[in-house]
Amino acid sequence: MGGLTVSPAGMGEGDSVSSSQAAGGNSIGGGQAAGPLLEVSGVVKSFRSGGEFAGRGAATVRALNGVSLRVFAGEVFCVVGESGCGKSTLAQVVAGLCRPDAGEVRFGGERIDHLSEKRRRPFRRAIQMVFQNPDASLNPRMTVEQTLTEVARFHFPALRAGAKARERAAEVLALTGLSADALGRFPHQFSGGQRQRLSIARALIARPQFVIADEPVAALDVSVQAQILNLLGDLRREQGLAFLFISHDLSVVREFGGRVAVMYLGRVCEEASCAELFAAPRHPYTRALLAAAPAVGKALPPLRSPGEPPSPTDLPGGCYFHPRCRYAEERCRGVVPGLFPPPTPPIGDGGGEEGSSGMGGTISSMGSGRTVACHAVAEGRI
Ligand SMILES: Nc1ncnc2c1ncn2[C@@H]1O[C@H](COP(=O)(O)OP(=O)(O)OP(=O)(O)O)[C@@H](O)[C@H]1O
Ligand code: SF4
Ligand SMILES: [Mg+2]
Repeated sequence: MGGLTVSPAGMGEGDSVSSSQAAGGNSIGGGQAAGPLLEVSGVVKSFRSGGEFAGRGAATVRALNGVSLRVFAGEVFCVVGESGCGKSTLAQVVAGLCRPDAGEVRFGGERIDHLSEKRRRPFRRAIQMVFQNPDASLNPRMTVEQTLTEVARFHFPALRAGAKARERAAEVLALTGLSADALGRFPHQFSGGQRQRLSIARALIARPQFVIADEPVAALDVSVQAQILNLLGDLRREQGLAFLFISHDLSVVREFGGRVAVMYLGRVCEEASCAELFAAPRHPYTRALLAAAPAVGKALPPLRSPGEPPSPTDLPGGCYFHPRCRYAEERCRGVVPGLFPPPTPPIGDGGGEEGSSGMGGTISSMGSGRTVACHAVAEGRI
């Protein structure tokens, strides 16, 4: 990545950028090379659902219950878990599309979760999203050229004049394996896989440092999935991008690699490298998840995980997995498990009591070893 550091706080709407910035030389947090690019600490997010009439039937959906993680520059960080565990909510909080109720999000060392729209703008450029449905980021009434150049001109005033934005659009299309012929066409004239390439090009034209890919291949045929995963992998290597890669599909996560956090009901229950996690899952939920997908990883001992997850509107105390866990003991019903081993250095609040914002600890990343939030693992029972 380029080495020029810009001060996000000092860069407002209409500020011009130098030609080197326009060419992509700017990066946020350039002076923080040793620190994480993204740091999420104890993030909590709830939604009100239902009960439009005088609040009757209204419920609080506890989507995130103290998520902490760190992603370093150029790193791939995957998040996996069942539907409804909070993956997309986490993505939206990081991308600034919704505000957390508690906790912090830092990017390049700067706290960004409560910035005004104007002060957030450099981060909107640096953090780009690729969605499951490419149509979410493509306007059907705009040509590819209009879509891409609009983004380029918005983020880089130096590209507003002449044909520079068009040249840049052709460049990013080439990076995603599409020819410049695509510029004059509309989204409906492309296949699903090509539209996902277009949405990746739309993200790339902003010259991001960090890409959040939320189920980017879930809507694609298996053969096309592999192509898009390869493309994202190439971009990561060639462009030095960091990824928050979200999927409910373990085989897709294993393919993408990097570090993996397993989420259950808005908490991270295990974090490890992809190789470690698939070779020897430790948390009972991770083991249940892998056991339910025998094609992934090695054969695992049978682990009972009866029933459906509890409702996020009525979560149990202690470890959220205890109603389904064969290793549950009394302690599991009342005390949120802390991380084992405790991460060093600690980040976030590190709380461990039920009712605190934390999941019982925090996750450190990048070579710091794996962490598991489970009493049985910490006590050596499993
Ligand atoms: N805007 C909202 N209003 C009410 N509830 C919401 C809202 N957004 C998410 N939720 C709820 O929060 C919980 C987490 O949702 P989220 O979309 O983050 O899960 P997910 O892990 O991305 O699931 P999936 O794999 O199905 O995409 C779910 O119970 C969901 O119904
Ligand atoms: S903390 Fe207890 S209930 Fe939760 S996964 Fe570990 S053993 Fe099971
Ligand atoms: Mg989702």
